[in-house]
Amino acid sequence: MFSEVKILQIVLVQWLTLFSFTNNSHGTYILDGSAAFNENSYLVLTNTTKHSYGQAFDNTTFEMKDQSFSINFFFAIVPEHKQQGSHGMTFAFSPTRGLPGASSDQYLGLFNKTNNGKTSNHVIAIELDIHKDEEFEDIDDNHVGININGLRSVASASAGYYDDNDGSFKNLSLISGKLMRLSIVYSHPDTKLDVTLCPAEFLVPPRKPLLSLNRDLSQYVLKHMHIGFTASTGSIRALHYMVLVYTYPEAVYQPLEFGRVPTLPPYPKKPSDRLRTILTFCLTLALFAVFVASGIGFVFYLRHKKVKEVLEEWEIQCGPHRFSYKELFNATKGFKEKQLLGKGGFGQVYKGTLPGSHAEIAVKRTSHDSRQGMSEFLAEISTIGRLRHPNLVRLLGYCKHKENLYLVYDFMPNGSLDKYLNRSNTNENQERLTWEQRFKIIKDVASALLHLHQEWVQVIIHRDIKPANVLIDHDMNARLGDFGLAKLYDQGFDPQTSRVAGTFGYIAPEFLRTGRATTSTDVFAFGLVMLEVVCGRRLIERRAAENEEVLVDWILELWENENIFDAAEECIRQEQNRGEIELVLKLGVLCSHQSESIRPDMSVVMQILNGVVQLPENLFDVVRDEILKGRPETSMEILLDVNSFATLTFTNSFISHGR
Ligand SMILES: *[C@@H]1O[C@H](CO)[C@@H](O)[C@H](O)[C@H]1NC(C)=O
Ligand SMILES: *[C@@H]1O[C@H](CO)[C@@H](O)[C@H](O)[C@H]1NC(C)=O
Ligand SMILES: *[C@@H]1O[C@H](CO)[C@@H](O)[C@H](O)[C@H]1NC(C)=O
Ligand SMILES: *[C@@H]1O[C@H](CO)[C@@H](O)[C@H](O)[C@H]1NC(C)=O
Repeated sequence: MFSEVKILQIVLVQWLTLFSFTNNSHGTYILDGSAAFNENSYLVLTNTTKHSYGQAFDNTTFEMKDQSFSINFFFAIVPEHKQQGSHGMTFAFSPTRGLPGASSDQYLGLFNKTNNGKTSNHVIAIELDIHKDEEFEDIDDNHVGININGLRSVASASAGYYDDNDGSFKNLSLISGKLMRLSIVYSHPDTKLDVTLCPAEFLVPPRKPLLSLNRDLSQYVLKHMHIGFTASTGSIRALHYMVLVYTYPEAVYQPLEFGRVPTLPPYPKKPSDRLRTILTFCLTLALFAVFVASGIGFVFYLRHKKVKEVLEEWEIQCGPHRFSYKELFNATKGFKEKQLLGKGGFGQVYKGTLPGSHAEIAVKRTSHDSRQGMSEFLAEISTIGRLRHPNLVRLLGYCKHKENLYLVYDFMPNGSLDKYLNRSNTNENQERLTWEQRFKIIKDVASALLHLHQEWVQVIIHRDIKPANVLIDHDMNARLGDFGLAKLYDQGFDPQTSRVAGTFGYIAPEFLRTGRATTSTDVFAFGLVMLEVVCGRRLIERRAAENEEVLVDWILELWENENIFDAAEECIRQEQNRGEIELVLKLGVLCSHQSESIRPDMSVVMQILNGVVQLPENLFDVVRDEILKGRPETSMEILLDVNSFATLTFTNSFISHGR
């Protein structure tokens, strides 16, 4: 598995139409002590209680014995007092899902007086220590340490990083309240552990690690370990945040673009009586000021009615950048018709250029009617706005003005994948994609989906995977978007029909039955997209010969006659591509299988696309069953073991649900 981070399930409804946001706690992180998720779904390990500790451990196991791995996480410590907080937090590998009996204060919620230092612990931790404990020979009150089975670090260094340009050391304060990234990379062949700290804004961690340890970690750990986080407070308090974690089963220095780094709220203040008096005074003053200001404001309102903004309390709490209406108004030249990229049931998409940076943006304008829809919409912005991945269209920010909501995205000059697939209608002249381009696009979308399903702290189900939602940037990289630039004006086909063919066709059968979207329903749609990309046509082509009308059925027929290669679009049907083309076609059929249980998950799909895992020999036997039975609802079980994908067993039970 690529990563094992599933905390909350966010069902991402196509936000063009509905703004529904389901937040089922189906966490695989086990929380203990003061640890909790806050309203932004950040993990907060400690609360405002003194001498307490919190733990959060992944319920799933992490194989690290005799293996390389990389772990990156984003964290922040917000102390009670500006210059002081206690005691710190750790990232830990533990043989159990939690460390029972741990103590607070200097024990960091990791060990206690009795078990500290015992080899039977099998615990390896990286501490982010903000208190100098003489007892454990801490070097200072702002350091990073590598701990094995105890709190006395085997290696430690003051918090900071080595500048890539001149090699100079730059201090970082762990209690700055700013988001930072810790990168832990272990190379098993070199038996070397590198720990690197840097600000969250860095795309790649600095080359020179802050700390290195030359030691075989396998001697300390057990076969199955759990990863987790702990933190503790003492007589001074601090909030310890863990915002995001990525795990990889290789030693890689991953670029991770956090984008606009969120600012964490300050430590909550409990106003004392004296403070209260001051506050009352300030409030009175403020009220007076507001009174005066509103008088002035009213005059302004009359003059600038057109670019009036409504600032509401919730807008301040939200993650991504909030654009002013004026900025967007100027960027799109006043939402001129000429700037219109497309429109549909959801509203309009305009092209714009941000003054100053000259960055090209796409601005989607939608209207909202209910207050309810509004808060769900904002909850989505705060989640999706934090997503950063090279194969996802970036949501740069948003704006609310009167009854309209504006979403600002990166502009994608090459439009949507749809445009490249349908030769019909007006785009006869559209250049055809080469096989290399197509294969790259498929892998890009797969990597985006893998990120949504498995690499992000929350499981995100896109629910609307289709070529119209895959956008192509200027380097021909595919980026998964959540709005259909495909509904472009110059596309020249009726949005009504494209909706039926384009959206209904991609809905997995069990989703229609149960109304429940899962990652598997996304895989279903992705399977169909793969087929479309290879065949260069739509799922249903009314003008085709009768047996070719429905793409999937036609491919199955060709596969049965052992000429599946003929399904590929003519211009890419070259012998040197044969292996890859057949692989993608077969994988597409497998992913778009009627039976949910047979579809592989995205990490397996990715491994098959990368040639790490082979498709099983007897794959067609499974698929053929569908043809013979006229595609009934079958319940098949397939054992998708990452390493031995070839173990394919299934049982058919003829559940007749009616079709
Ligand atoms: C943790 O995993 C075990 C099986 O490994 C499972 O039985 C249990 O329900 C899981 N707990 C949670 C909270 O997911
Ligand atoms: C903090 O966490 C502890 C559990 O360790 C809990 O008992 C306490 O109520 C929490 N305090 C607040 C203010 O949430
Ligand atoms: C210390 O931790 C161990 C194991 O986690 C536990 O068995 C023991 O009871 C704890 N000791 C104290 C004094 O809390
Ligand atoms: C960095 O930290 C060290 C140790 O705390 C201190 O001696 C040094 O002055 C700091 N340097 C800067 C530039 O803040």
